Amino acid sequence: MKIAILASEGAPYIKSGGLGDVMEALPSALSRIPGNQVLLILPYYKKIKENPAFATELVVHYDVCLGWRHQYAGLMRLKRPKDAVQVYFIDSEYYFGARPGAIYGDIDDGERFAFFSKACLEALSLLDYIPDVVQCNDWQTAMVPVFMKALYHQRFADTKCMYTIHNIEYQGWARGDFFDDVLALPWEYRGSMDMNGSVNMMKGAIEAADMVTTVSESYSRELMYPYYAHGLDGIISNAAWKLTGITNGIDVGTFNPETDRNLPAHYNADTFVEGKAKCKAALQKEVGLPEKPDVPLLVMVTRLAGHKGLDLLCYIARRLIWEENCQLLILGTGEPQFESFFQDLQAEHPDQVAAKITFNLGLAARIYAGGDIYLMPSKSEPCGLSQMNAMRYGTVPVVHATGGLRDTVPAVDSHGEGGLGFTFQSYNGDDFLNAVKRCLFLYNNDRDAFRALQRRDMCQDFSWDKPAQRYMDLFRRMCGK
Ligand code: GLC
Repeated sequence: MKIAILASEGAPYIKSGGLGDVMEALPSALSRIPGNQVLLILPYYKKIKENPAFATELVVHYDVCLGWRHQYAGLMRLKRPKDAVQVYFIDSEYYFGARPGAIYGDIDDGERFAFFSKACLEALSLLDYIPDVVQCNDWQTAMVPVFMKALYHQRFADTKCMYTIHNIEYQGWARGDFFDDVLALPWEYRGSMDMNGSVNMMKGAIEAADMVTTVSESYSRELMYPYYAHGLDGIISNAAWKLTGITNGIDVGTFNPETDRNLPAHYNADTFVEGKAKCKAALQKEVGLPEKPDVPLLVMVTRLAGHKGLDLLCYIARRLIWEENCQLLILGTGEPQFESFFQDLQAEHPDQVAAKITFNLGLAARIYAGGDIYLMPSKSEPCGLSQMNAMRYGTVPVVHATGGLRDTVPAVDSHGEGGLGFTFQSYNGDDFLNAVKRCLFLYNNDRDAFRALQRRDMCQDFSWDKPAQRYMDLFRRMCGK
């Protein structure tokens, strides 16, 4: 099957979050399935352009029209792809050159990604690559299914479009006049793009796509409720007939405690007791915590954003530290009030708390390996990847039972059996504290059961093989094959 994947970020070229990880692993997994041909297109951000590791060549250049604008686009091909995925970039000095943010955050983001979406379809057409399926992601490529239907229906008459929602919080809102000024679509599309007089690109995509997916089954159901859908619950409910949840995997090649070069010691499900003990001691030393092998080390690697559940952690942190003999280690950057909260907490309790306010992938890996317990109390979580990283490294998760966290971390009983981690149901600080305490109780009082749980976590299959097959099933269904 011929597949084109369009996205605003993809590791290892450019990444700001989970979408970037998925756009590395999913194309790769699809390309390993016999009979598939996979092509990935990303914007040619300055950061990619300047990276000597990613040499490219110009294939063709052309103009992309957005209303009265005619903008240059250069189609660049990656010279030495690392696997069977053909990687292309859309070059535009104007939209993706010198910008204050590396990827997102400009006043004209709506126009930038409308340009990108159109430039991708032009590129496929110029390459004469007529895919069976176009798979596009989040608001940045939301115009793809709409443009396909409105402007490219002849060129891509037999091509189906799957739209995948990784996070419904960001929808691509614009003023109403964006419709004529930038999108310049026929009038009959105005209704599908409209939300209370404004333009909402994600809404347009949900209505125009042949199929819609989200990144976990629970999240696909949650999206029908106002609490989760950020205004799109009605639109999602109307599209329920074509909506499916497919839980992401993780890159088990990169995230492998047996080979991860970031770690001071390596281990697997049979040797983790020793291996993790070494990693824990080294980690405590690295972050300035006392080297105490039997004091449970609670860890979190996260963007310091409210919806990651940091308000709950702030609410319980002092009680946790007073009432329990434990250590807490946080890695991440984000909202200033959280950064200073954890810095203050570290200053107050240097023997129990370490706050690393930075972005460091190596340290993140050492934390997954050296921690005992991984905290992820997200308010909502479309899928979440780090709880899977943590489990693969034998660190027991304590999570809010929502979205992908609910699907990937089935709850254990009080003996640590029957699941993979500790969960709490309602988004509430006391319930979170209770879940953490249940986990600590198991760690402190039944170490054998705790280790059995760690081992079970490590033995799960979090690879992309199964999710990639589920994508294939949907592709075949869409194409009637
Ligand atoms: C977004 C979601 C996260 C998900 C990721 C990859 O970042 O917030 O839950 O894991 O996309 O799909």
